Amino acid sequence: MKKIDLKKIPSEFLRLIEIVSKEADIQNIDAYLVGGFVRDVLIEKKNLDIDIVVEFDAIELAKEISQKHKTTITSYPHFGTATLSWESGAKIDLASARKERYSRPGALPIVSAGVIRDDLMRRDFTINAMAISINKKSFGVLVDEFHGFEDLMEKKIRVFHEKSFIDDPTRILRAIRFEQRLGFQIEKQTREFLIDAIESDAAATVTPGRYLEEFKKILKEAECEKHLKRLGELGGLGFIHLRMSAETLNVELLKSIGRSLEWFQENCDLSLSLSRWIVYFMGILDSLGLDEVRNSLEKSSLSRKDQEKVFSSKTECEVIGGLLVEAIKPSQAYKILNRLSLEELVFFLAKTKDESVKRSIEKFLTDYRHIKILTDGKDLIGLGVTDGKQIKEILQNLLYKKIDGELQTKGDEDNYLQQMELK
Ligand code: CTP
Repeated sequence: MKKIDLKKIPSEFLRLIEIVSKEADIQNIDAYLVGGFVRDVLIEKKNLDIDIVVEFDAIELAKEISQKHKTTITSYPHFGTATLSWESGAKIDLASARKERYSRPGALPIVSAGVIRDDLMRRDFTINAMAISINKKSFGVLVDEFHGFEDLMEKKIRVFHEKSFIDDPTRILRAIRFEQRLGFQIEKQTREFLIDAIESDAAATVTPGRYLEEFKKILKEAECEKHLKRLGELGGLGFIHLRMSAETLNVELLKSIGRSLEWFQENCDLSLSLSRWIVYFMGILDSLGLDEVRNSLEKSSLSRKDQEKVFSSKTECEVIGGLLVEAIKPSQAYKILNRLSLEELVFFLAKTKDESVKRSIEKFLTDYRHIKILTDGKDLIGLGVTDGKQIKEILQNLLYKKIDGELQTKGDEDNYLQQMELK
């Protein structure tokens, strides 16, 4: 019997686990930490996504806890799960132990109540199928019925049975994600099952949206190009486009995207909403032709808006060439760049090899796009301009002058308008 020292968990979180533990003991319910949290505790990797499974109705238990402690509860009756959120921002997910069976490959599983063994057995890999008891009498005892600890120590990703990737093809992506993130190896037989699943196009049995959600998790990993390369080597990039493979992947561009995203994070306003995964998606599709990208996007489950952004990264490529003008004025760069999405800007920043183009994009992101004029439409109406189109044009010109550093204060803007002899 292996006992895990849970004292290593940050004390704030340990305290919350103990709250659940205490309530479970009062109600005489068996409760366990499970999944990725247990895996990461065992390899001393930081993970604050606490998942607890109870052999009881998790929503009932969560209600009880939230009544006694200062927590908010969000319950999902359909899944038999509840999330407890504390004011500090800490969260614990509670779920009822369950059995799962698949009615057909790729379908969502049919769920029924079970015990902890059932709940562990339904999981993807042995390293994700361990539990740690949190009841007082057995606090810290590791439940490891499927040699997960051994695989964890040997750095192996192993499925439970040969149909695992067929039942749930999203596990193809998950196997690669954990392998690359943790520096593990997909165990030999598991790799064969995985390749069989890829070759039989198992991914096509899952709704594209579900597969894409799991793929996005890869694109959110650090150094995701390694994950993508591995996926390509195993033949698993075909779901994006039949011609996509490890060879068609532009790994250097993907690395460069990583550096540009880092630059963006360090230098730009972080309240700007930028989807990192979209920038990588642009990078993945870069080696395909326009029609191939169009086909790939049409069969994807990307929202219309996201599809447009990605497609535009292909069509706007030449527009960026406009930045190559020698001694380009800031306002000229602004006119070219202002029509692009943030994702495209970061993508082009990563893609261009020209230092002056790079500088223009960086300047646009850090400076030009924040410049505002102090004159507005009402001021112009006050000066006798009534035509809407003319108002728009004048305001735009004022902005360009300001971007070029020719105007600074409101006084400068007023003087400029006076010189224009408006009517
Ligand atoms: N799980 C599974 N099959 C899936 C998705 C999830 O068996 N297709 C199980 C695994 O046991 C996993 C747990 O549910 O550990 C939680 O899922 P998720 O949060 O996606 O995985 P984590 O292991 O927590 O991964 P991460 O560290 O990236 O959060």
